[in-house]
Amino acid sequence: MRGKSVLLIIGGGIAAYKSLEVIRRLKDRGATVRAILTSAAREFVTPLSVASLSGEKVFQDLFSLTDESEMGHIQLSRAADLVVVAPATADLMSKLANGAANDLASTALLATDKKVLMAPAMNVRMWQHPATQRNLRTLKNDGVLFVGPNDGEMACGEFGPGRMAEAAEIVAAIERALIAPELSLAGMTALVTAGPTQEPLDPVRFIGNRSSGKQGYAIADALARAGAQTTLISGPVEIAAPAGVRLLRVTTAREMLAACESALPADVAVMTAAVADWRPDVAANSKIKKEKGAAAPALKLVENPDVLATLAKHEMRPQLLIGFAAETDNVVANAQAKLQKKGCDWIVANDVSPATGIMGGDRNTVHIVTRSGVEDWPEMDKSEVGARLAARIAAQLKGKAA
Ligand code: CTP
Repeated sequence: MRGKSVLLIIGGGIAAYKSLEVIRRLKDRGATVRAILTSAAREFVTPLSVASLSGEKVFQDLFSLTDESEMGHIQLSRAADLVVVAPATADLMSKLANGAANDLASTALLATDKKVLMAPAMNVRMWQHPATQRNLRTLKNDGVLFVGPNDGEMACGEFGPGRMAEAAEIVAAIERALIAPELSLAGMTALVTAGPTQEPLDPVRFIGNRSSGKQGYAIADALARAGAQTTLISGPVEIAAPAGVRLLRVTTAREMLAACESALPADVAVMTAAVADWRPDVAANSKIKKEKGAAAPALKLVENPDVLATLAKHEMRPQLLIGFAAETDNVVANAQAKLQKKGCDWIVANDVSPATGIMGGDRNTVHIVTRSGVEDWPEMDKSEVGARLAARIAAQLKGKAA
């Protein structure tokens, strides 16, 4: 979001405190945030806290001579790349739906030539009232974007829809709204596998691979940010689900395959999971005990299904199927062989020999192996690998890349 500018209109509601978190997250991502506070909003958050977090002057009055000479209200609403209303009260929704402009917030909303994103927050009955629902339809028809409201307990003690979306959800919606059209995956579906699988030996023991899941989660996050409806199928890892991603947790390779098949069709699938190639032939129902003097139990292993290769032959094969190769030697040559063997379209190859620190670390160095060649990417954060891969996928699905 570096270089992007957001005009945040804070309406008067108890959820206004979450808007402070929205500002902080946007600033962390490099965006500029200017805020307008309605007079009701000033009852919930102070201009000083908003100014301190945004590092910008806070705008409050329509007829302030100094504001008008520094930046008129028309320019204020147009200098931004996106106008966000959070919390969007029933009053602010009604004003914009009906074209009212009697304070700085409503005037800026009417004067802007940019997209508007609203995060409604109000009492459940106010939200469900036919007038609010009518305004919602009008605003949607006018092209206004919405995030939330969510169901939940409200500050007023009632339960139901009307809670403002969480800061992370609002920021994810802002990112989707700001994304350049050529990088957008809006309307597309994505499937990502991540983490290890664990194959039980008995109720307390398993065999499995090493995998932190960080790269797969970062890719799912980036695909969702780009607007793809994303399902992440994850083996056991200690990472929270990225905002806006549907997370399905699995343990074994067979569960991972079943979950992948249930998530089809998908336009793109990125298989980063470190699937265990073998599983114990039988998993004991109770813990295998260590008998004094007895030999260690012999393990008989059987082969697990290959999730990637199965999807490659599937009647609902994703249009773009991407495998990962974690290699310790001959990284690119092995990836090229794997591309053929698995029947996928690209292999993202990374060198995981212990000296690289990639396993479990935050950085990665990858090579994108396609049927037409190899791209060597420099070392970067796993989140950056995710963002670049999402951009590369958007270009491919839109027919602009080899
Ligand atoms: N993969 C899979 N199902 C398996 C094994 C692997 O979907 N049972 C996928 C991984 O998610 C990854 C790709 O296949 O996208 C390559 O995984 P890797 O373990 O490197 O491949 P293997 O076929 O196991 O090859 P190797 O002989 O190097 O172990």
